[in-house]
Amino acid sequence: MNPGREILDRVAALGRHSDSPDHYTRTYLTPAHQAAARDIAQLMRDAGMQVRTDAVGSVIGRYEARSQGAKTLLMGSHYDSVRNGGKYDGVLGILVPIACVAELSARGERLPVAIEVVAFSDEEGARFQTGMLASRALIGRFERSTLEHRDADGVRLADAMRDAGFDPAKIDGPSVDLASLAAYVEVHIEQGPVLLEEGRALGVVTSIAAGIRNTMKVTGESGHAGTVPMPMRHDALAAAAEMIVAIEKRCKQGSTSSLVGTVGMLEVKNGTGNVIAGEVKFSVDIRAADAQTLSTAQRDVFAELDAIAKRRGVKLEGSRTHDVKPVPCTGWVQDRLAAAVERTLGGGPARRLPSGAGHDAMILAEVTDVGMMFVRCGAGGVSHNPAETVTAEDAAAARNALLDFLRTFEPKA
Ligand code: GLV
Ligand code: MN
Ligand code: MN
Repeated sequence: MNPGREILDRVAALGRHSDSPDHYTRTYLTPAHQAAARDIAQLMRDAGMQVRTDAVGSVIGRYEARSQGAKTLLMGSHYDSVRNGGKYDGVLGILVPIACVAELSARGERLPVAIEVVAFSDEEGARFQTGMLASRALIGRFERSTLEHRDADGVRLADAMRDAGFDPAKIDGPSVDLASLAAYVEVHIEQGPVLLEEGRALGVVTSIAAGIRNTMKVTGESGHAGTVPMPMRHDALAAAAEMIVAIEKRCKQGSTSSLVGTVGMLEVKNGTGNVIAGEVKFSVDIRAADAQTLSTAQRDVFAELDAIAKRRGVKLEGSRTHDVKPVPCTGWVQDRLAAAVERTLGGGPARRLPSGAGHDAMILAEVTDVGMMFVRCGAGGVSHNPAETVTAEDAAAARNALLDFLRTFEPKA
């Protein structure tokens, strides 16, 4: 079968493992999530890899090198999703490397490096607000405080882990041999329109934007919608609404800047049409290409939220769920990926572009050199949306370019 078609068929098959029958949502440790992990493990075995699962549910396939004692090239991405997301986000970066290993294995080719493909169990953090939990655990930097996070039904992460057969006490130390790593490479759908607009199938990532995520809680005073005079109210929802608009306004300043701010989650506790809201929670996601822009914006945003809370007589509390610095992709890995893309596509220098989205590569950059290959995103470049799409031709191009990269890969001396 055409290798691109096969990758797309596998994306579709994995996409059927969803928490919801109506749309694609696969969150950490649900039955659908665990079913996807089993299928990925089988695909890895079929491709000729030895498979293990780490203490947080990441699936790791290993394809040995030509000789013992060789370094390891790590590749991968995540198999969880956002709610009502796109099926390619993450999964493509698992299936493309698996397709490459299957080809090497079918031809009996061994490389000067071992290959490990990792399918990270939780990157989006949609269920427990735990961004990049799995890549942190993989490198031995799991944050134990996240075990106390609860999902929307009040289930503690630690309990969900136990129910799924994972023992939180066993999360200890890295699940790959960090000293042997030659580099980490992640293939990912671009999630934006740049490659699409320029008519290019692939690109090479230069850097990944910084970002923070907070959960905010506004506590006002609930009361009867018909009896409490307007000047006497401490309406938590009206306060949150003003805060949300303030976030948008600040992040729109400097329209050419990479700064973006999003409130994607709003929850009114016991929300009822004839009751003044007493408690509201909302998320804040702020990102920028550079740390300075991000830190100035977040300082301004949180000062403004405090001022709104004070003026309205509501209490504002916040907790940080995610905080990542901007990450440059390593020069030599970028250059090797670019050379492989150029040999595969022809037509001159590879397009290099920054990533506004976050990726597991940001965490891996703490322990090894990293690079990323972007694959053109169809449907106007939309992502975190069910319309997200990749063509079979582009999936084949990604597989061919990654295979070229692998066959010519030599660890840095
Ligand atoms: C990951 O999808 C992100 O939020 O950037
Ligand atoms: Mn995503
Ligand atoms: Mn992703």
